[in-house]
Amino acid sequence: MRAVDIITRKRDKQELSKEEIEFFIKGVTSGSIPDYQVSAWVMAILLNGMTPQETTYLTLSMAHSGDILDLSSVAPLVVDKHSSGGVGDKTTLVVAPIVASYGLPVGKMSGRGLGFSGGTLDKMESIPGYRVDLSEAEFMQQLKEIGIVLTGQTSDLAPADGILYGLRDVTGTVPSTPLIASSIMSKKIAAGAQAIVLDVKLGYGAFMKDLKQAQELAHLMVEIGRLSGRKVRALLSDMNQPLGEAVGNANELKEAIETLHDHGPADFREHCFTISAHMLLLGEKAENLEAARNMAEKAVTDGKAWEKFIQLVKAQKGDISYIEHPEKLPSASIHEEIKAERDGYLSMVNAQLVGEAAVLLGAGREKKGAPIDLGVGIIVHHKVGTEIKNGDVLFTIYANSREHLIAAKTKLMNSVSIVKEKCDELPLFYGVI
Ligand code: URA
Repeated sequence: MRAVDIITRKRDKQELSKEEIEFFIKGVTSGSIPDYQVSAWVMAILLNGMTPQETTYLTLSMAHSGDILDLSSVAPLVVDKHSSGGVGDKTTLVVAPIVASYGLPVGKMSGRGLGFSGGTLDKMESIPGYRVDLSEAEFMQQLKEIGIVLTGQTSDLAPADGILYGLRDVTGTVPSTPLIASSIMSKKIAAGAQAIVLDVKLGYGAFMKDLKQAQELAHLMVEIGRLSGRKVRALLSDMNQPLGEAVGNANELKEAIETLHDHGPADFREHCFTISAHMLLLGEKAENLEAARNMAEKAVTDGKAWEKFIQLVKAQKGDISYIEHPEKLPSASIHEEIKAERDGYLSMVNAQLVGEAAVLLGAGREKKGAPIDLGVGIIVHHKVGTEIKNGDVLFTIYANSREHLIAAKTKLMNSVSIVKEKCDELPLFYGVI
């Protein structure tokens, strides 16, 4: 078999066999297929799609490109969650400690930013010393000892995804249903959790732009999970506007800390309580969803989730003085406000443009492996549906260069629309699969 023939077949819209997909993924993993051929292949997949059968083969080959963890020695039931990617999505930082505070182990391997969407690892790395490179043995040990782990994908787990993820980020090949489904589910299968909650985002700031695409992705992932013997639930959630107020790495960590202290923006709090509730329910810690939702809120009000977060950061060698005093976290030197220029109602805060503005400031990567600036970002002050007065502050920009500030400002001004007629708030969720 030759990589070029497999690329050509996908270019010509043909269905690939199990053997061809396995051959390609083995070549990706061993490095025998060079980046330029891998990039051409993922572009062909993005343009021509894959059948559910091909996507399942792709997912399983990627999951088996490295080790598959067996967590049964750690606990009878370990839960995990994964978001399909969004702007301002710092949910894991809050839900993992909430759920783990009830003795339900959460073992999570997270990713870095992808395109205009942020990544949990980058956010956690705002804490000096915090290790995101735990070995498998350390992952298992910490999960057993404190019931929570939040680390990066080790090079031994789904290594093919690690390679594809890095290339897709910089080759315009992120928004593809089979590539996203296989990326997410291969990691989840390899990381070993028996129960998984998927947060499938839809809207401007998501890779899935509408409900139909998001439902398709969610069904595909739930089915792949079922075939692999996992309990999977997918929630369809809004990503037309950013989640919460903070966008950017240290900014988002600060907002997660505020939320764990029982403050934080109302939409973000409710989103976290709902995701946590589904995890608690799948993990058999609650009788029904309402009870689980109340448990989630209680873990925040009584400080148990915060204690768990401190335990996590300590275990992964982060300097906890930075989370106890978040003013010590990186913060950019230039702060500038963007104000409304008319009265009316906010009808759009386009999350993709806000995410792109954050990347222009330096919060995301334009090249594989490029460094990012943890202290830059944006605060989004209002939600769609809010009444706005001329002069109200819409955004605060945190920048470290005038040039970046100007570029981000233009994007942000284009991201909002203020209309005369009253408009509805956006829902947080669109359904559960
Ligand atoms: N999250 C992932 O892990 N992979 C994707 O492809 C998109 C979001």
